[in-house]
Amino acid sequence: MTTEPLWYQNAIFYEVNVRAFYDSNADGHGDLPGLIEKLDYLKDLGVNCIWVMPIYDSPLRDDGYDISDFLKIQAVFGNVQDFRRLIEEAHARGIRIITDMIMNHTSDQHPWFQAARSDPNSPYRDFYVWSDTREKYSDARIIFLDTEESNWSWDEKAQQYYWHRFYASQPDLNYDNPAVRQAMLDIMKFWLDMGIDGFRADAVPYLIEREGTNCENLPETHAILKEVRTFIDKNYPGRILLAEANQWPKDVLEYFGNSDEFHMGFHFPVMPRIFMALRKADRSSLVWILEQTPPIPKNCQWCTFLRNHDELTLEMVTEEERQWMWQQYAPDPRMRLNLGIRRRQAPLLENDPALIRLANVLLFSLPGTPIIYYGDEIGMGDNIWLFDRNGVRTPMQWDKTANAGFSSAAPDKLYASVIEQDPYGLQIVNVEDQLADPNSLFNFFKRLIEIRKANPAFSIGNLTWLDVTDPGVVAISRVYEGQTLVILLNLSLDTKNLHLQIPNVYGAPLDLWNNQFRMDWNDGKIDCQLTARQYIWLKFTG
Ligand code: GLC
Repeated sequence: MTTEPLWYQNAIFYEVNVRAFYDSNADGHGDLPGLIEKLDYLKDLGVNCIWVMPIYDSPLRDDGYDISDFLKIQAVFGNVQDFRRLIEEAHARGIRIITDMIMNHTSDQHPWFQAARSDPNSPYRDFYVWSDTREKYSDARIIFLDTEESNWSWDEKAQQYYWHRFYASQPDLNYDNPAVRQAMLDIMKFWLDMGIDGFRADAVPYLIEREGTNCENLPETHAILKEVRTFIDKNYPGRILLAEANQWPKDVLEYFGNSDEFHMGFHFPVMPRIFMALRKADRSSLVWILEQTPPIPKNCQWCTFLRNHDELTLEMVTEEERQWMWQQYAPDPRMRLNLGIRRRQAPLLENDPALIRLANVLLFSLPGTPIIYYGDEIGMGDNIWLFDRNGVRTPMQWDKTANAGFSSAAPDKLYASVIEQDPYGLQIVNVEDQLADPNSLFNFFKRLIEIRKANPAFSIGNLTWLDVTDPGVVAISRVYEGQTLVILLNLSLDTKNLHLQIPNVYGAPLDLWNNQFRMDWNDGKIDCQLTARQYIWLKFTG
């Protein structure tokens, strides 16, 4: 494994839902030994960091994002020894492991909350946020709009209301209490000592509440997060913190601090705009959001993605854009959830191979470290009949055998049924077939990852829009240490003729995809034609 301290700046992340990945003991749930068995698959794909979704003890009211014991692994997933082995086996293959760290809240089943609600004098009472009325912090929005009507819930035992930004079964911790902050550091220490490479820190904007504010991104919250970073830098250099802050870029910027807070932050607002640009065959919204994206401090990096385990969030768009996205991408109300769309990448992109490839080339052309959501590399479908976000968390489709090779349990024992309906059913979409087919989506992803990793200008190079008037074309250059990459994408179904002037390049470019792209090339001038949804990556070294 590379010892490069800035490894995360030019990496490829892969988000795994352990429950959905591979079941090693036929109980119907994916598990850690199962994930270990599939590490060679991930190595072959080329990813070099796995984000493992929550595996801690939990009553599963929010699929593990409601933790009842931070130091215990849920029995169906295995145990701490399995987790230790996962780290070792992943590291042996050059793959890092980061896990979800849910700082903002616990499950209501957590012993801290149970003690807090039962006894006003318990030291744990002050681990949570209580009030006699529901009037406090009324400027804070409700996030799970479809299920919650208030951020306060009444607790019979405590005879008070408690504060929660997500489900009522997820009481928020009180970060004004130093004991809470220390408890979180102790939990992080436990996992870091085991050898993990960092945390995806869940829901970080909401740690602190203050009257008269929207209770997001407060300076006190940043101060706490900086304490966490100091702790990591002092004891675990090279490990990273990735912020889940679903905010505008200028607000996420604050989470990088002065290179003294998070190493990485998700770029939420760019994601819906990739979908907009593709459907409209118009780059404008993408240009706009990248213009709104300030430079980030040295040693930091964005994390970019098209899909993840949650709904495709439409929080960082205007009301008009949200309505448009819903009309276009979620015509059936069952496809909508909260302020988003609960569908997977392939169905969103009409299962159109050219469109799926173009979307991912576009994502991989932008600054940041991209994340692939499990199953999207083979174009898995979703099941909108399942509750909440479960429809995008169905079993990984390994082959055409029973249960898609995910588990040898009886089908009624599976945590969720495998997708069987065409065109996303296991007969058509599965790893085994795609490994054998050089033209499969899997093999496309493999190549995409390989090229991207070999050319760091994609992740950290300066981005410039080249002068092309047609909005259906994305033409950008990415420059880093004497290397210029030129990216030409045709978002539309029409053929496009391009005449471009690329500044400061000499010599003929190399076509990174297949060396067959025909163009007239003369002294930084390119004349060429792009067919429908064609993507071209050129590299100049002189
Ligand atoms: C994050 C997670 C989401 C979870 C929520 C509450 O947004 O991505 O899945 O429901 O936090 O923990």
